[in-house]
Amino acid sequence: MGLKTKVKTTFFCQSCGTQYNKWQGQCAACKEWNTIVEEVVQKAEKSDWKTPSSSTSKRVSKPLKINDIDASKEARLDTFDNEFNRVLGGGIVPGSLILLGGEPGIGKSTLMLQVSLKLPYKTLYVSGEESQKQIKMRAERIHPNSENCYILTETKTQNIFKQIEALQPDIVIIDSIQTLHSDYIESSSGSISQIKECATELIKFAKETATPVILIGHITKDGNIAGPKILEHMVDTVLQFEGDRNHVFRILRASKNRFGSTNELGIYEMQSSGLREVNNPSEVLISKKDEELSGNAIAATLEGMRPLMIEVQALVSTAVYGTPQRSATGFNAKRLNMLLAVLEKRAGFRLGAKDVFLNITGGITVDDPAIDLAVVAAILSSNEDVALQKDYCFAAEVGLSGEIRPVQRVEQRILEAEKLGFSTIFVSKYNKISLKDTSIKIQLITKIEDLVELIV
Ligand code: TYD
Ligand code: MG
Repeated sequence: MGLKTKVKTTFFCQSCGTQYNKWQGQCAACKEWNTIVEEVVQKAEKSDWKTPSSSTSKRVSKPLKINDIDASKEARLDTFDNEFNRVLGGGIVPGSLILLGGEPGIGKSTLMLQVSLKLPYKTLYVSGEESQKQIKMRAERIHPNSENCYILTETKTQNIFKQIEALQPDIVIIDSIQTLHSDYIESSSGSISQIKECATELIKFAKETATPVILIGHITKDGNIAGPKILEHMVDTVLQFEGDRNHVFRILRASKNRFGSTNELGIYEMQSSGLREVNNPSEVLISKKDEELSGNAIAATLEGMRPLMIEVQALVSTAVYGTPQRSATGFNAKRLNMLLAVLEKRAGFRLGAKDVFLNITGGITVDDPAIDLAVVAAILSSNEDVALQKDYCFAAEVGLSGEIRPVQRVEQRILEAEKLGFSTIFVSKYNKISLKDTSIKIQLITKIEDLVELIV
């Protein structure tokens, strides 16, 4: 009979993945303009194709009483990487699909290759981006010896499944989902319909064989994983690998996790021999210097569940041009303007005629509101050109009327600061603290004026 010659096409929004029957200028779902593109989606008969196990799996699902379901045997695969395990919630769940997103060059391939090389299970690393030789060269930099890691350079899913059937790996890694293409869809690799189809085939394979699959995904300019949003709904876990490419630290976090919390965070340092796990992040993020310099303050923040001491640097100088400049790296610029307005109003500082630059060291971005007090302290310190004592640290949010507000899990922050040898921590008086016998001084303050009095 052969395939029908009529080409079937449909229209997809490249931004959100919504499907349309005809072209239109604006996507009705996400309101983006000019994102709708025609794609060829002719599907061939699927009867000649099967995932490796579909012939053997005759499992019929039956309803079970929830009390009778045995969840205890949900054994996880240890990845032998503490940070990766932590973010996943204790290892890889069999049959799960993990999507790892990140900007180009951030180290996704390096991280996944490194994990593959360490695994004692049979691992298949499928690359559509680099040749086997290139991967070998990279592997030699990381970990020269591995008995269980197989590299396949292939982009056609049907061929990948054939190789999987022959090799029977315990885990499959795909670098990247955007390079894959399936014969059953006519459109080009990286298009919405291809990504959807390839991901569907891989999910079917993972669920039927209980083999975990890790997909690497590229990220668009605005920080979303390229391809349909539904890709994120289809997988079990979405991990983001972030950091500033000019800095060495990389942060791995889960933005979705069906098998664990999304609070956990993994920290790595990019070295010439691959990514090193950072187990004591507080110690590396604070620059070790002997001198006390004005404009520096240390914040006791929490990233996920982990306490993290972070150094904030501010530079306040007289504005050269009419409009003062405000710039913040790693901190929300709007929040900086708000804190400056509070300082102006409550502490009488004439910051309106000053340029203010703020920088969070280590190239990381902080969302924790507890960093506010350290930001204010750094600005005051730079403005007055008075250095803060270098064993001071801060953990509180600053409100619009200049009040110092409590932060969550303050005791954990205090204990971390104590462990690292800080002499004093500034926190809100409204925080309930039941710690006794601490060697660190807990300085309770209620308003910004108190801070001004104590440090300048
Ligand atoms: P890569 O894993 O290729 O990034 P992605 O897959 O996210 O695009 O990482 C690329 C960068 O990592 C590259 O610029 C060089 C750097 N790198 C190191 O610093 N040390 C190493 O051991 C390796 C393998 C890479
Ligand atoms: Mg890569």
